[in-house]
Amino acid sequence: MAHQWRGVIAEYRDRLPIEDEPIITLGEGGTPLVPAQRLSDRIGSEVWVKMEGVNPTGSFKDRGMTMAVTKVAGQGAEMLACASTGNTSASAAAYAAHAGLGCAVILPAGKIAAGKLAQAIVHGAQLVAVDGNFDDCLRITRELTDAYPVALVNSINPFRLQGQKTAAFEVVDALGDAPDIHVLPVGNAGNITAYWMGYREYAGMTTLASVDESAAHMEPVSTKVPKMWGFQAAGAAPLVLGEPVSDPETVATAIRIGNPASWKYAIEARDESSGQIDKVSDEDILAAQALLAAEVGIFVEPASAASIAGLLAAAEAGKVAEGQKIVCTVTGHGLKDTETALTGREIDPTVIEPSLAAASEALGL
Ligand code: F0G
Repeated sequence: MAHQWRGVIAEYRDRLPIEDEPIITLGEGGTPLVPAQRLSDRIGSEVWVKMEGVNPTGSFKDRGMTMAVTKVAGQGAEMLACASTGNTSASAAAYAAHAGLGCAVILPAGKIAAGKLAQAIVHGAQLVAVDGNFDDCLRITRELTDAYPVALVNSINPFRLQGQKTAAFEVVDALGDAPDIHVLPVGNAGNITAYWMGYREYAGMTTLASVDESAAHMEPVSTKVPKMWGFQAAGAAPLVLGEPVSDPETVATAIRIGNPASWKYAIEARDESSGQIDKVSDEDILAAQALLAAEVGIFVEPASAASIAGLLAAAEAGKVAEGQKIVCTVTGHGLKDTETALTGREIDPTVIEPSLAAASEALGL
């Protein structure tokens, strides 16, 4: 009989700090882990793609949002707020709508992809556009939620990372053990922190950023942890440079961040896993986005393609040993930002008369 995935809280309840509060879920998680043969051929290793764009609002943010909104609603909050480059706000707006709560989203003006902005609007969030970047928005949101009875649902809310760690559980559950390398894009650095927490927890290691010690006594599920490889956009690569970037710039607007909130944890993930955090150019990001769409059949937004771009560059530089099992997380759906994906492409096909002859001629058949 078909089993309906119940959302990450119900599926992984024993590993999450949940009590008896009503669960706010849209059925997030349970996303496909797709073997990517043509990428594997290019890299000389076994490459799998974790498709987080398949989540209810089209990005991985839903995993954390179900936890954060469940918690703050359970504590009586009536209004949520977040700063965002677009996906967090889309997710917060949707979960707030589902829970019947108000939602304020603080966004960098003119730097949000159209699909994400549409999501915040249709879900009824109150939009505040800031003449500044994401880092300014996050500062304002922290101050706002300190001063007013408004609950913060950015990833500095520790329940967000608790929800997001379930993606690592799913990878291990699907593969039977942890991969050798896990590759993902890095912006505010919450997700790399959450994956590392999940992988450590499943391997029976104590978690650092965790607010939940209930899993400490549980049997290990995996025999190892992967090396964590993070990639930032070259124009917004504070973790690579080792200092904040005051004016971050990249075509991958989702990771246009100069001073990541989870900086310290991301560096810990990198160092404890013997991994790396490196940067990729906008050009390579767009090329990887196009390649993934054309050769694997997966359409992701530019930020997500940073993981693929980074892996391709590492392979090119001879930094990927043969026969590794590698998982790349692609974080958000390509439909969120069609404008960037279509830049420089022919999008006005010649219009033909409605006949087979004209269609076959147009196709060169
Ligand atoms: N990929 C996408 C599609 C994102 O939206 C983000 C972050 C990241 C990667 C980076 O993840 O911040 O955990 O390192 N988006 C946030 C937002 C900042 O507001 O939607 P991270």
